[in-house]
Amino acid sequence: MKLLVTGGTGFIGSHTVVALIEAGHEVVIVDNLVNSQRNVVTKIKRITGVKPLFYKVDVAHEKGLRKVFSEHKFDAVIHFAGLKAVDESVEKPLMYYRNNLDSTITLLELMREFGVKNILFSSSATVYGTPKRVPLKEEDPIGGTTNPYGTTKLFIEQILMDFVAANPGFKAVSLRYFNPIGAHPSKLLGESPSDIPNNIMPYISRVANGKLSHLNVFGDDYETPDGTGIRDYVHVMDLAYGHLLALKAFEFDHAYNVYNLGTGKGTSVLELVHLYEKANRLKIPYVIGPRRSGDIAESFADISKAKTELGFVPQYTVKDACRHAYLFEKKQK
Ligand code: WQD
Repeated sequence: MKLLVTGGTGFIGSHTVVALIEAGHEVVIVDNLVNSQRNVVTKIKRITGVKPLFYKVDVAHEKGLRKVFSEHKFDAVIHFAGLKAVDESVEKPLMYYRNNLDSTITLLELMREFGVKNILFSSSATVYGTPKRVPLKEEDPIGGTTNPYGTTKLFIEQILMDFVAANPGFKAVSLRYFNPIGAHPSKLLGESPSDIPNNIMPYISRVANGKLSHLNVFGDDYETPDGTGIRDYVHVMDLAYGHLLALKAFEFDHAYNVYNLGTGKGTSVLELVHLYEKANRLKIPYVIGPRRSGDIAESFADISKAKTELGFVPQYTVKDACRHAYLFEKKQK
């Protein structure tokens, strides 16, 4: 297939582009590089032998994106582009709503105009809000998001549902990611935020590499076996293959479809720290602190729908992801 990948130089986008190219798809990337680097394109070439076509375009910029659509005939779009920092979204909600919603609407308008009928969307387990039960299933209620970033994901899912309902022949698939971690085994691609990381894995990797002194564990008084928060950490390459498999869903009858992408297993913060220590034979100093506001005790996926309908079976362990994340961070300055 010929695919337009928005946000294709970002963390999940870049790994997915590798999986797509390796499976023989033709990829065109658009990204405004607000949270990624242009040299990712060269790194993708080093891994796959193929350099994807790259446009430095903001997806919300209609004129720039129109040029891309007019120069290519796409079979589908994979839409990763978006702002994703939870804290920042609380401080600057309008920026998040403007950016994430505008870009999606502009993209859908152009898809409709150019007759590109399939879209795969980067959603998040955050749309489930505070889970009533775990593991989370796709049919569980969504809503009650605790920050504007999460609410943009929720709104975009609704926009996609309304869009395909109003435009016969169009199909949309939302992939709800749990907690993506790790890096490409080549150490060329990974996650290294420019500021102090908000997410646990890049934070631990900076501690492991001596760039930060210790991990702050956000609360040990949750109702979980060791008191720390439980999440479903999924290796970014497994997530990438999940996108490849999800392209199959465009052949199904449903105009709108949703899949959880995780591993189906929960890991606590302290378990993650210990797995990281074992994987890399080092010690992670940590300090138990108060809970972080907006955090939930436990979230992990039921992945049986993705497994049955798409053949999604994660291959990497959390320990593998800890190893890859460490090695990637070690290479960063
Ligand atoms: C995981 C666990 C923390 C940092 C968020 C977004 C979600 C998705 C992924 C992406 C929790 C604990 C964390 C630290 C800690 N969005 N923790 N010390 O909050 O599950 O999900 O990122 O773009 O939409 O909400 O992920 O990695 O921040 O936290 O103890 O320094 O680690 O309390 O239990 P989260 P996370």
